[in-house]
Amino acid sequence: MTRKLPSLAVAAVLAVLGAVAVQVSRAAPAAALDNGLALTPPMGFNDWNAFGCNVDQHLIEQTADAMAANGMKAAGYSYVNIDDCWALPERDANGNLVPDPTKFPNGIQAVADYVHHDGLKLGIYEGSGTKTCSSSHGFPGSFGHEYDDALQFAQWHVDYLKYDDCNQPADQQNIPATVARYTAMRDALAAATAQTGQPIVFSICEKTDFGVPNSAWPEIGNLWRTTGDIHDQYSRMVSLFHTNVQLASLAGPGAWNDPDMLEIGNGGQTDAEYRSEFSLWSEMAAPLIAGTDLHSASPATLAIYTNADVIAIDQDPLGKQSTIVSSTDGHWVLTKPLANGDVLVALFNETSSPATITTTAAAAGLSADAGPGAGTGRITYADGTTQQFALSVPDWYSNPPSGSDPPITMTYRNRSGNTQQAHAINVFLVKVPLQEGKTPSGVTLPDVSSTVTSGVPAMHVFGIAIGD
Ligand code: GLA
Repeated sequence: MTRKLPSLAVAAVLAVLGAVAVQVSRAAPAAALDNGLALTPPMGFNDWNAFGCNVDQHLIEQTADAMAANGMKAAGYSYVNIDDCWALPERDANGNLVPDPTKFPNGIQAVADYVHHDGLKLGIYEGSGTKTCSSSHGFPGSFGHEYDDALQFAQWHVDYLKYDDCNQPADQQNIPATVARYTAMRDALAAATAQTGQPIVFSICEKTDFGVPNSAWPEIGNLWRTTGDIHDQYSRMVSLFHTNVQLASLAGPGAWNDPDMLEIGNGGQTDAEYRSEFSLWSEMAAPLIAGTDLHSASPATLAIYTNADVIAIDQDPLGKQSTIVSSTDGHWVLTKPLANGDVLVALFNETSSPATITTTAAAAGLSADAGPGAGTGRITYADGTTQQFALSVPDWYSNPPSGSDPPITMTYRNRSGNTQQAHAINVFLVKVPLQEGKTPSGVTLPDVSSTVTSGVPAMHVFGIAIGD
C-alpha cells in the first residue's frame, strides 16, 4: 500500500535529491522578466530552419492547421512563429512596417486571427539593428522604432516576438549598447501590452555575447539565444549543447536559455540523433520550437516531437535546467530535479563509439551504501524508524525492467517507438512505496550504476520517486 507524500516530506526528499543540482551550480537563478509569460519553456514552430525566406500566409496557416490536427497542439505546442522576410524592404511614409503584400496579402492580423481560431498563437520576427539578419534582402529593423513597432505587433494580435541582432550602427556594437537596445524593446512591449491588453513573449536573439550570456538577459527577455545558428547536423547540435549546458544558473520560470530552434525532421540526422536532440533540449529546459515542415512531417518525426514523457521533462514547473555530473570524453551524465521531487538522470554518449557510461548516487552527490547495479536504499521516517528498500538498475539496453515487482515498481515512461532498441531514449521511474501512516523525513539512495551499450549517440533518462 502506498500513499502520497505529505508536502513537507516532499520538500525533505527534494532537499536530499536536489543536492545533485546544488552541488554543480550554486548560483541563485537570476530574477526573471516579470511579464507572467513563458513560465515553462515556450513550445511552438518557426519557419526559418526549413523554409528560410520562403514564408507566407499560406505556410503559416497550413502549419497551424497541421499542428491542430497532428498532435502537436495536443502535446503542448502553441506558438506558430513567422521568422525573417515577412516585411517589405522599406517602411511606409508614416514609418510603419509593411507586410509584403505578395506573401501576406491580408496582412499579419488576419493570419493572427486565423492561427488563434486554431487555438494557437502567432509569433513574429524583427531585429534590433537598422535591418534584420536576412543576408539576401535586408528588411527594416526596429532600431529607433521600438515603441511604434511593439504597438503595431500588439495591434496585430501578435503573441510572441523573436528579436534578432544584425546591422547595428557602429556605436551599438558592444554589450552595454546591446543590453540597452533589448531593454528598450522590453519596455516597448510592456507599454504596448498595457495599451492593448495583448501579452507578447519576448525572445531575445542577440549575438554579442555568445558563450557567456549577459546576466542581464533574464530580466529583459523570456528567452535568449546562447549560441550561433543551429544546422541540421549532429556535430553542430552537440556543439550548441556543449555551450548551453553550462548555463543552468541563468534559467528559471519565465527566463530560459535558448540554444536555437530544433532541426528534428529536416533530414540531416538519424532519428536516434534527433531523439537525442529532443531529449538534450528537454533536459536543458530549452524552448521547443519545431523547425521542420509540420504539414508533411513523417510519423517518426511527429513521434519525436510529441513524446509526452520527454516534453514533461522540459515543461516541468520547477523550471530547473539540468546540471552536469560528469562529461569525460563525450560521455555525459546530467541531472535535473523535478517539481514532484523526482530527479532525472540522463546518460548521453555523444561519440560514435560504443561506450559504457556509469553514474552512481555518490557521483551525483548522494550518499551511497552499495555497489554498482544494485543496492539498498533507506527511507528515514519522522518517528526515527527507517525502511530499507532494494533498488536494482539492470542493463537497461538488453534487459529492460517491466511491470510491477513489489515492493519496487519500475515503470517505463516510454512511448511507442522508444522501446529498448539501439539509439533509443529511455525514460523510466523507479517507485518506492512508503510504510502506511508514516511521515518520511529523508531518503538515502543506494549506489546504482547502469550502462549505455549502444554504439551511436543514445540517451537514457530515469527518475526515482519515493511514494506513489
Ligand atoms: C539569424 C537568426 C536566425 C534567423 C535568421 C533570419 O541568423 O539567428 O534564427 O532568424 O537570422 O535572417
